[in-house]
Amino acid sequence: MLDGKSWPSCKIESDMAAFIEAIDLHKTYHVGKIEVPALRGISFTIQKGEFVSVVGPSGSGKSTLFYLLGGLTRADSGKVILDGDDFASLSDAERTRMRKHKIGFVFQKFNLLPTLSARSNIEIAREISGNGHRDSAFFERIAELLGLARRLNHRPSELSGGEQQRVALARALINKPAIVLADEPTGNLDTENSNIVLRMLRQSNQELGQTVLMITHNPEAAKYADCILHMRDGHIVQPEEDPQWAPH
Ligand SMILES: Nc1ncnc2c1ncn2[C@@H]1O[C@H](COP(=O)(O)OP(=O)(O)OP(=O)(O)O)[C@@H](O)[C@H]1O
Ligand SMILES: [Mg+2]
Repeated sequence: MLDGKSWPSCKIESDMAAFIEAIDLHKTYHVGKIEVPALRGISFTIQKGEFVSVVGPSGSGKSTLFYLLGGLTRADSGKVILDGDDFASLSDAERTRMRKHKIGFVFQKFNLLPTLSARSNIEIAREISGNGHRDSAFFERIAELLGLARRLNHRPSELSGGEQQRVALARALINKPAIVLADEPTGNLDTENSNIVLRMLRQSNQELGQTVLMITHNPEAAKYADCILHMRDGHIVQPEEDPQWAPH
């Protein structure tokens, strides 16, 4: 296993203009009368074109952060600034527009539409975004790189878990978004499928200058990133404070 010292931690503050900025994010869930604090003051900056991994134990707030960064839920306090726009100051319509045009999402549970073929599941992202021009060559290339070329007419129920995750990744990348947010994209995959997904994310990041934030439990997967953010109990912590990474 890697220790924290062998992989760079991401900078919390930067002198350069950030592409993604989280400023003192707080989020507490309310379940009946019980309060469940998920984020307790998270701040960091990510530069354009950076590939960042977020690691941390189960329940440390990683998915909550993913939803806030993607504008899928609102913070109780704090700000998310994407490419100069403060999510909170946007109207619902503007936020939706930003999500569709700028962000590709890879969800842990795929979120594919069961009645549509793999091809339609991928193409629907382009249709929803209203991004009219169809780049067939890019579609074919992504499908080929992800090993989906002969699976495009299958529905999700006719695909393996690894294939479904690869379709979900193709859907996230098809619009060439400036930002890719991926929540455990290799969570349930075997090594071979994990490597296909991770290589594709890295290649897309390098070729298109995409900014990628990938949540992962897996230290080997985290190594695909330029740097790592460690979370614990709703905070960003030093690698030494992360039991999975601390040198033994
Ligand atoms: N919808 C919700 N309602 C109430 N509590 C929630 C909700 N979603 C998450 N939580 C709680 O918030 C905390 C952070 O959850 P979150 O899903 O962000 O963690 P995580 O780091 O993604 O965990 P995992 O690695 O298991 O996916 C946990 O204590 C969780 O139980
Ligand atoms: Mg999670």
